[in-house]
Amino acid sequence: MNNYFKNIKYVDVIESTNKELKKDIYQDYDNYVLISNYQTEGRGRLGRTFVSNKDAGLYMSIRIKPNVEIPVLQNLTCVVAAITALSIEEQIKKSIDIKWVNDIYINNFKIAGILVESKLNLKENKFDYLIIGIGINLYNQEFDHTLSLTASSVEAQTGQKISKEKLIKSILQKLSIYLQNFDSKEYMKEYISRNLVIGKKIKLMLSNELIECSIINITECGELIINHNNTIRTITSGEVLKTYL
Ligand code: BTN
Repeated sequence: MNNYFKNIKYVDVIESTNKELKKDIYQDYDNYVLISNYQTEGRGRLGRTFVSNKDAGLYMSIRIKPNVEIPVLQNLTCVVAAITALSIEEQIKKSIDIKWVNDIYINNFKIAGILVESKLNLKENKFDYLIIGIGINLYNQEFDHTLSLTASSVEAQTGQKISKEKLIKSILQKLSIYLQNFDSKEYMKEYISRNLVIGKKIKLMLSNELIECSIINITECGELIINHNNTIRTITSGEVLKTYL
């Protein structure tokens, strides 16, 4: 299917494709792709659940061992979000938005998320492994009441039942090119131009404080530049809790 990702394994059910690929048995598998038809314990950022209903989405993880220093891939979550948005857009007529840092939206409903996890070799400033997890709600499905207020699927928001196979092919194709040259400019441009938080006032959870601030921009490294009480700060990690209109 793709010369870079030659090993693609499909399973019907698994707890979590990300969790599975962290196991030692995969340590000699590089550029390995695992796709499950559903997940019983799909995970999102910050330990949250990612509902992964049967026959309803794409639940895919990719294990790689890139031979670059850690900072080169600081913005990998953003690059993968942009690749995912562009790949979905190839099959639908609506534009896709992104919410810093890893959420993908259509019509203000979350339809996909990215979870990048890694094991670092700090001595060498390299990765032991990196796992890129991509979850996309593709088709009509039931979410519980609370989740249905914020989450939806591509089909529910566009009326289109897109091809999962075409989507996998497009994501892996773009990702393989990126992972061979690490030129993130094009993808960061897409990521920034689609981002829902730029210019907005938001409530932002940082590791030890909850603040309200305005988002001035996002850097090419994927950091937020914020104005907080008239002080300009650069934020590398956090969680957008609320975006004000
Ligand atoms: C998020 O919304 O915070 C990220 C969601 C990532 C979900 C994908 S589905 C495939 C892979 N396996 C998981 O358990 N999580 C990721």
